[in-house]
Amino acid sequence: MANDFDSFSEKLRVEEALTFDDVLLRPKESSVEPDEASTATRVSTSVELTVPVLSAAMDTVTESNMAIAMARHGGLGVLHRNMSIDQMVEEIDRVKRADELIIPLEEVVTVDPEMSVREADSRMEREGVGGAPVINTNGEVLGIISSTDVRPHLEVGESDPVSEAMTDEVITAPQDIDPREAFDMMYEHKIERVPVVDEENLLVGLVTMQGILQRREFDEAARDEGGHLRVGVAVGPFELDRAQAADDAGADILFIDCAHAHNRNVIESARDIKSKVGADVVVGNIGTREAAAAVVDFADGVKVGIGPGSICTTRVVTGAGMPQISAIAQVADVASQHKVPVIADGGIRYSGDAIKAIAAGADAIMLGSYFAGTDEAPGRVIIMNGKKYKQYRGMGSVGAMKSGGGDRYFKDDTDEEFVPEGVEAATPYKGTLESELHQLVGGMQSGMGYVGADSIPEFKERAEFVRVSPAGQQEGHPHDVVITDEAPNYSPE
Ligand code: XMP
Repeated sequence: MANDFDSFSEKLRVEEALTFDDVLLRPKESSVEPDEASTATRVSTSVELTVPVLSAAMDTVTESNMAIAMARHGGLGVLHRNMSIDQMVEEIDRVKRADELIIPLEEVVTVDPEMSVREADSRMEREGVGGAPVINTNGEVLGIISSTDVRPHLEVGESDPVSEAMTDEVITAPQDIDPREAFDMMYEHKIERVPVVDEENLLVGLVTMQGILQRREFDEAARDEGGHLRVGVAVGPFELDRAQAADDAGADILFIDCAHAHNRNVIESARDIKSKVGADVVVGNIGTREAAAAVVDFADGVKVGIGPGSICTTRVVTGAGMPQISAIAQVADVASQHKVPVIADGGIRYSGDAIKAIAAGADAIMLGSYFAGTDEAPGRVIIMNGKKYKQYRGMGSVGAMKSGGGDRYFKDDTDEEFVPEGVEAATPYKGTLESELHQLVGGMQSGMGYVGADSIPEFKERAEFVRVSPAGQQEGHPHDVVITDEAPNYSPE
């Protein structure tokens, strides 16, 4: 036979491949308090996260709102690619501008000195700001006016010019101010906003106390060197133009988005993209050690998952796939030798699955269904039989392929009749991403506590699995009871 087999029957002497429910973490002696376990990890050559979690590049999971929320809480959102390149650039821009220290000039509400106090007050109210820099026609900063300055004039002289009401001893900041300096400056002078000026005292932006406090609230956030939130972007396996546009727009990681990346053309194209962009390039999806070996020489990360996803039908439609725990372990065997981070993508239903994925060798995990029901996911809440849901569909479903991205499955978007590898579904509405992420990460930290590891690298070293029988699986879920109050981190399948 052409393969290494002497007969067809020999093919049936197969290796066993396992998934989440087949294994459990073996409890070990521990002195680790779960809350103190660090979940910091590396997802690609140059990107580290405090939370090892990514939201899936799916059109019912990650657009800019999700990406902003994920990055603020220490993880990473990966924008889907069922959108035009222009839209993608706008979405990247929205994430990058979300927590900007300096509000750029185009977005600063300004008033001019000749304007009446009444007019200035109306403008500030309309724009929802409590104060505004006063600038002349050259853009020079003459003063600053706030609601407090305006109030007495509204009583007695609402047509007084702004120049009479404004504070003209303005404290300004240089363009390279950092958050600490800005905070100290505002604290010392008891002011809420500081105009940022260039060498000629021309206004270039504004720093507000509100903005600084918001950044402080997210002290675990994933930020780039410039302090902007990080964002991942999915690009098609052959989309060099999209990859270059995403790179130019400031994407931190490009994810080559393919259902079967162990394909020579895909690998060549990914290699070419990597050679032409500055951002890190993660290649996926793969599920075997041979596939890992084919990409580790250039990839900044690899993503694992052939058919484990909740909305996937790849395995039943194509007959191909790899149970996820074994897929992760096989890929990690090779990737870890080359110090290439591994992302486990798909099939994670509970925090226990997430931490098992890390134990099997992953550095981070990617989730779709877990986050699709949150407020930050695209799409509206729908009510069915009195319960709230949000739409969740596979990127290989007919609906998603019709709106682009069929090449993830090597299908042409113009095909009249798709052969889908995913379904269109709904998932229970879950509220904020923050509370979902809190449950997910809290459960993972508890798993680290059971194994006695206070960091992800130590956990990967220490964790051992036991094999679970069907009876053992049943024992692990609530049994012989009727659940009366749903837990925030468990719902029966
Ligand atoms: P979960 O289980 O988290 O999985 O919902 C999300 C991951 O599933 C992959 N994905 C698909 N796989 N057909 C597939 O075989 C599809 O239509 C499909 N859509 C998404 C993807 O890797 C995602 O991150």
